[in-house]
Amino acid sequence: MPEAHDHKISSILLRVLSEVKPSEAEIAHTTEKANELMGRIKAIAPKSVEIIMAGSTARGTQTKGNSDIDIFLLFPRADEERPMELKGLSIAKKIVNKSKGEKFEIKYAEHPYLKLIMPEDGISADIVPAFKITDSSERVSAVDRTQLHNVFVNSMLSAQQKDDVRLVKSFMRFHNVYGAEAKTLGFSGYLCELLVAHFGSFQKVLSAFSSIKLPMVIRFGKSDMSIDETVKKFNSRFVVVDPTDSNRNVAAVVSEDSLARFATASRRFLSNPSIEYFYGVKYSDIDSAAKLTGLKNALGTELYSATFSFPKISEEILWQQLSRLDMSLRKLLSEYGFPVVIAVAGIEGRTGAVGYFINKSAPGSRVVRGPTAFMPDNFDAFADAHKDSLSFFMDGGFGVAIEKAKFHSPKDLLKFLLKGGGMKLPSYIKQKGIKINRGKVPERSARILYGSYVRMTYI
Ligand code: UTP
Ligand code: MN
Repeated sequence: MPEAHDHKISSILLRVLSEVKPSEAEIAHTTEKANELMGRIKAIAPKSVEIIMAGSTARGTQTKGNSDIDIFLLFPRADEERPMELKGLSIAKKIVNKSKGEKFEIKYAEHPYLKLIMPEDGISADIVPAFKITDSSERVSAVDRTQLHNVFVNSMLSAQQKDDVRLVKSFMRFHNVYGAEAKTLGFSGYLCELLVAHFGSFQKVLSAFSSIKLPMVIRFGKSDMSIDETVKKFNSRFVVVDPTDSNRNVAAVVSEDSLARFATASRRFLSNPSIEYFYGVKYSDIDSAAKLTGLKNALGTELYSATFSFPKISEEILWQQLSRLDMSLRKLLSEYGFPVVIAVAGIEGRTGAVGYFINKSAPGSRVVRGPTAFMPDNFDAFADAHKDSLSFFMDGGFGVAIEKAKFHSPKDLLKFLLKGGGMKLPSYIKQKGIKINRGKVPERSARILYGSYVRMTYI
C-alpha cells in the first residue's frame, strides 16, 4: 500500500520538522541579533564595504540549536587580498563587546575569519572578510563564492523546500554524515540545499540515494561535458557541480564511506520508516571502559590503545592529524603481522585516542613485499638487502622476503612507532603526551573510543 506508506513518512517528517525547525521566536531573535551585529559593523566600516548575512540563517535553512550567524564583509575587488583580510578582521575585532561577556577567536578556513561568541544569547557569529563579486570568475578565494550561493539558493528553493533542507540536514546529522569537516567528511549545508533543489524534496533526495549508482553527477543547467568527462575532471565518483562555479565540486570532501552510509540509511528509512530510525542511534557513554572490555572479550581479541594530548589549536587540524596517524598505524600494524580487526578513533576537547582490536597470536616472522622482477635493478637491490632473510621467493613476479619478526606484540610496535622515533609523528602529536595501553582503557579515552565504535557500527 504505497499511499499508507507515504502517509506514514509524511507524518514522521511533520513531527521531526516541528522539533528541528527553529520556532518563529527563535528565528526572530537570531535575525534581530544578526541585524544588531551588522549595525555595529556598519557604524565603523568604510562605505565601500557591503555587509551581508549569508549561510543557512540568511537562507532560512538553519536547524534548531545549530543556527550560527554568518556575516560577510564584502570589500571592493580593487583592494589587495592581505590588507583586505586584515582590515576585515580589525573591524570585526572592534565590534566585540567585552562588557556583555562576548569573546572571539580567529579561525582559519582558506581565509582567516573571526568567530564571535555571545554567551548571553547562546549564539555565535562568523564574521568573514571577502571580496564583492558577481561572478565566480572574479573570485580570489573560496569564501568569495558564498554570496553567490545565497542568490542561487534563494532563487531555487520554496519555503517548503527549505523545510526539506532542514530535514535532510537533520537526518544526515543523526546518521553522522552531516558536515564537511575532517571529523565527518560528510555533506555540507550548501550541498544539502543543492540536493533538495535538484531532486525536489526530502523524500526524493533519499529515494535517489537509496538506489544510487556510481558515478553520480549532478549539474544545474546545460553542460558541454559528458558524465565521464566530469568524473575525470573532478577525479571523483560523486560530483555536484557548483551552479555558481563550474570548476567546483561541492561534494569534493564527501568520503565514499559517508556516501555509502547516507545511501544505506536512506534505503532503510524509506523501506521501514520510523521516528526512532530517523533520530539514529542513542547510547549511553557510562562505563565505556567496561563496554570496550566486553567487546574485546566477545571478539576474542586484545585491545591496544593510545591516548594523545593536543595543544590548543583548531579541531579541524587535530582531526586531520589524528586521521592521518590512524591510517599509518593501521597499515604498519598489519605490515608487522598484527592485522587490525576493528579500529576506532576520536577526539574530545584536547584529548585524542585510537584503539585497535587485534587477534592474540604473536607472529614469528614478517612478510616484506619487494619490487617486481621486471624492474631488475630494484629487484636486485631488494634481494641484496634481504639476502640474510629467513626465506626469499617470487610471488606473482614480485620478490618477497620473510624476515624474523622484530616485534612480538602490538604494544612493543606501538611503543617503537609512537615513543621510540619509529615513525614521523604529525606536528601537533608529541611523544611526551602519548600513553599506550593494553587491555583496559582509561575512562576518558574509553568514552571517545566507545563513541567512535557505536557511530561506526550504526548502519
Ligand atoms: P556554514 O558552514 O555555516 O554552513 O557555511 P551553512 O550552510 O550555514 O549550514 P549550517 O546550517 O550552519 O550547518 C556558511 C556558508 O559558507 C559557504 C556556503 O555558502 C555556506 O552556506 N561555505 C562554507 C562554502 O562554500 N564552503 C565551505 O566549505 C563552507
Ligand atoms: Mn552556518
